[in-house]
Amino acid sequence: MCSNAVSWSGLILAAAVSTATAQPADEVVRERQRDMKVMAAAAKGIDAMFKGVSPYDAKAFKAAAETIRTYSGERLAALFGSPVVTVDSKASANIEVERTIFDKLAAELGVYAAALSLAADRNPDVIAPGMRMQDGDAKMGGPLAKRKTAALDPRSMPAEHAFHTMLQVCTSCHAKFRVKDK
Ligand code: HEC
Repeated sequence: MCSNAVSWSGLILAAAVSTATAQPADEVVRERQRDMKVMAAAAKGIDAMFKGVSPYDAKAFKAAAETIRTYSGERLAALFGSPVVTVDSKASANIEVERTIFDKLAAELGVYAAALSLAADRNPDVIAPGMRMQDGDAKMGGPLAKRKTAALDPRSMPAEHAFHTMLQVCTSCHAKFRVKDK
């Protein structure tokens, strides 16, 4: 009886401690993986509209862009706080070493997503020619090339180009901070 009472109070104490601390690590990992999948679905939706696979719908386009914007930046960065590396995660230990670069890519994702959201506001009915990638746009290259032309504002580039550059931000981060197999 007496020893029972002790173990019960031990359990209650343990429960109190676990609610007082942050979310358990495995929950955070599940959440960040879920967020990533939601972003992938949103990006796929935008891609289908650019390709004409789905009809252009400014509201759906904006909602998808806003989803990516919401899941980018600080929210994304925070989900990769410590512990970064766990058994079920493909997050690389590099995140801890190069946190500034990681956070910068997370923020950049949001800047492009915001530009896409704005493009939907500006183009309520159809994908106007100005939203399309122009001949020379591809040559401007990805996020790295962009740094050389820092004055380039994603909001003033054609939305399709902003979209492709945004996808390069996804790819750059994965190349550097996601382990391939484990
Ligand atoms: C700042 C870095 C960063 C950016 C930007 C980023 N990702 Fe990720 N992504 C990761 C990391 C790290 C993982 C591994 C997460 C884990 O397993 O804990 C991941 C995992 C994923 C996964 C696999 C999720 C799963 O089920 O395990 C998908 C899909 C994905 N990302 C899609 C995207 C898309 C689409 C974008 C752009 C719209 C994007 N990511 C942008 C870092 C990033």
